[in-house]
Amino acid sequence: EPVRLADYRVPAFLIDTVHLDIRLERTQTRIVSTLTLRRNPHSAGQGALKLDGDGLVFVEAWLDGVSLPSDAYSVSPHGFSLHQPPAEPFTLAIETRLDPSANTQLMGLYRSNSAYCTQCEAEGFRRITYFLDRPDVLSVYTTRIEASFQEAPVLLANGNRTEHGSLADGRHYAVWHDPFPKPSYLFAMVAGDLAMVADSFTTRSGREVRLEIYVEHGKEDRCAYAMDALKRSMRWDEQAFGREYDLDIFMIVAVSDFNMGAMENKGLNIFNDKYVLALPQTATDSDFAAVEAIIAHEYFHNWTGNRITCRDWFQLCLKEGLTVFRDQEFSSDQRSRPVKRINDVKLLRSQQFSEDGGPLAHPVRPEIYNEINNFYTATVYEKGAEVVRMLKTLIGDEAFAAGMDLYFQRHDGEAVTIEDFLTCFAEASRRDLGQFMLWYRQSGTPEIRAEGQWDEEAGTYHLSLKQILAPTPGQPNKQPMLFPIRLGLVGEDGDLPVTLDGKPFDGLVALAESERNYVFGNVRQAPVPSLLRGFSAPVKLTVALDEEALLTLLKADSDPFNRWQASQSYALKLLLRLVKDPTTPVDPRFIAAVRGLLAGGAVDPAFTALSLALPSETDIAREIGNDVDPQAVYRARSILRRTLARDLQADLLRTIENMTVAGPYSPQAADAGRRSLRNGALDLVCAGGTPQALDAAAAQFDKADNMTDEMAALATLALSATPAGERALHNFRERYDNDPLVIDKWMGVQAMLPLEATLDRVKELMHDPAFSLHNPNRVRALIGTFCSANQTQFNRADGEGYRFVADIILAIDPKNPQLAARLLVAFKTWRSLEQGRRTLAAATLRDIARRPGLSRDVADIAQRSLA
Ligand code: ARG
Ligand code: ZN
Repeated sequence: EPVRLADYRVPAFLIDTVHLDIRLERTQTRIVSTLTLRRNPHSAGQGALKLDGDGLVFVEAWLDGVSLPSDAYSVSPHGFSLHQPPAEPFTLAIETRLDPSANTQLMGLYRSNSAYCTQCEAEGFRRITYFLDRPDVLSVYTTRIEASFQEAPVLLANGNRTEHGSLADGRHYAVWHDPFPKPSYLFAMVAGDLAMVADSFTTRSGREVRLEIYVEHGKEDRCAYAMDALKRSMRWDEQAFGREYDLDIFMIVAVSDFNMGAMENKGLNIFNDKYVLALPQTATDSDFAAVEAIIAHEYFHNWTGNRITCRDWFQLCLKEGLTVFRDQEFSSDQRSRPVKRINDVKLLRSQQFSEDGGPLAHPVRPEIYNEINNFYTATVYEKGAEVVRMLKTLIGDEAFAAGMDLYFQRHDGEAVTIEDFLTCFAEASRRDLGQFMLWYRQSGTPEIRAEGQWDEEAGTYHLSLKQILAPTPGQPNKQPMLFPIRLGLVGEDGDLPVTLDGKPFDGLVALAESERNYVFGNVRQAPVPSLLRGFSAPVKLTVALDEEALLTLLKADSDPFNRWQASQSYALKLLLRLVKDPTTPVDPRFIAAVRGLLAGGAVDPAFTALSLALPSETDIAREIGNDVDPQAVYRARSILRRTLARDLQADLLRTIENMTVAGPYSPQAADAGRRSLRNGALDLVCAGGTPQALDAAAAQFDKADNMTDEMAALATLALSATPAGERALHNFRERYDNDPLVIDKWMGVQAMLPLEATLDRVKELMHDPAFSLHNPNRVRALIGTFCSANQTQFNRADGEGYRFVADIILAIDPKNPQLAARLLVAFKTWRSLEQGRRTLAAATLRDIARRPGLSRDVADIAQRSLA
């Protein structure tokens, strides 16, 4: 029984207020939910009131204060139905019991370490009480929590605390009221013995907001960066989007058992502790950047998601794509815009393009699902953000800002659709966005084919752009889409001041048809086209540029993204040749270009580090497209790395020296950039395996005063598969014995090793006392890394990698289906493998699919992967 967008109906009833009375006990928590209901004037629905439930234990129900006789309703763990609801508004109270200690799904109300917490998106509220658990039912919530004071001195819920006090038998209570109507997925409560760090923020209009971050005792000193990021996010949203915070208090709670990154519950964000806790000694530069981005992301949801929410779950990208776009812009303003853009595109290509090119492809706004939790994907999030970015590019900054303002003004307090969103921009820009809407409807990565020709005599350049939209699951035929394509023509010394249609060219074309030809004028020298600048659309660009042309772009392109792209395209050319024939000599012009990059590295170290890094194994595999042999891909990449290491050893060692960061650690972009170049050079030079190189790594490992440098050295040493590597791994494990988030890194480094022995090592690490199949972070660090960041060993030719991961998925599924389904997504590119591995992967998927008693989550991924 899949759910279809076409079947959407407005709710037959509305719930204006919810009063939750929660009496916490570890195994016997009692919930009384009192709802004020009325018929929805916009619904023709008649008959019974049907509430959702999931695994609930029913106790009793009352209609307008009177206990309901058992023939007035029917009830099961999965639903409650009131046979003859009154025509006039009424009050329905329902008592349920639940066992938070037994909730291993981490959805609904559960325990993480010693605290009680909740996760309700997407459909977890129905695991707490019977409800109209859908995002278009908005209610005002009052939550009373009662618990043992000793067990849970801290009692939190959404909104403002209106009352609290102590009770008999060492118990106490607190009442929280959230004045903003919200859907049930934004409900949250937390209770436990937690430490708190407080600060405050004054909004632009003078409202004083109290800020609180709750963590386990002893972790208080790890919250400073998250708090700082929060304050910067609040200020930025005022300045960039005119959005102010709206309650008197904003709280963040870090918990160690969490299925995803974080959750934007109104006024009470709950985080995976990995994205809150950060100290220089425990977190890397990328960890700091992730904390900043996710703190911002969840905060920004307060307007894009909470004040304006989704009508139904098909509209998930309405809040996620837009909010990712907003957090990307925030990070770009806080750090380096080009570096942020390159990192975002790398992520998009590695996660989203591979999803879009395989059996799990789906539109940014899906039209059908079996299990909504399987649609929190790179397509909805990352491609969803790209679509918003394209919209801004197409209609311009001003119209985009006006459209956002209109959206906030028109839809505040509502649950809306992508159509509602786009209408605001169509009005603000006076443009028809009908064709643009296809970005939400059509799945797959479009290909843009470009061909150009210079006419020396006429001083013109003819550019033809063609769009190719390959079939994807359920979408055999597609309509032409609208692409914003930023471009320029580059000569030896930079951009040429060309014309288009007789006017100075402004650098942007909008391709709306299947094919179109552009004739640029004033082209006085042989140009190199620089297409898709800034990655202006999420497409695969095909254009024949030879090595000389790529070198021109690398040197002279004014667009940093395309300068980086040129380095990658060049390397990819070499790598593809090496995959076919490992004896191909490496083009000396490429080596010279890398030498040039290193020599100029000090100008923008972070950018240089990105240009220096070779395309990943998955990048190469994606480019090959089908019949991929991961071992051949790995071999090709190793050969190129070894060649660069050997030929550039002196340059790389000099870079390591020059990029030393003086003074105490700062997570800011400038220092982080120097560290990334230094560590990129270290990683590359060690691929040569010379004693000088490995000594540099060992020295760095010994004297590092921050986790970034320490991890980089550890990874490099471990990869060398030498006794020094084993020693470093051993020392690191001892050093961080009490720090699970750091041990996760240690596990990940080992799971990534491209060695025959890695599978056995991973199996062994599962017996490490720090590992647990119950904790999502632990599972993702070890097993998740093995299957997503170790292409050769997950895809072992003997199929043992698949078998191992399948067994773990089947072991986790009965306890935590979301976590199990996430791991299974590792098979998303199985069809592009060479025949032997393809056969083994298919057999493994079929074996999973036919097991009895699978969760809906895992069954859905397995079936779609095989379809
Ligand atoms: N809304 C949360 C966030 O982006 C993620 C929730 C994920 N929920 C899920 N069921 N997978 O920020
Ligand atoms: Zn989000």
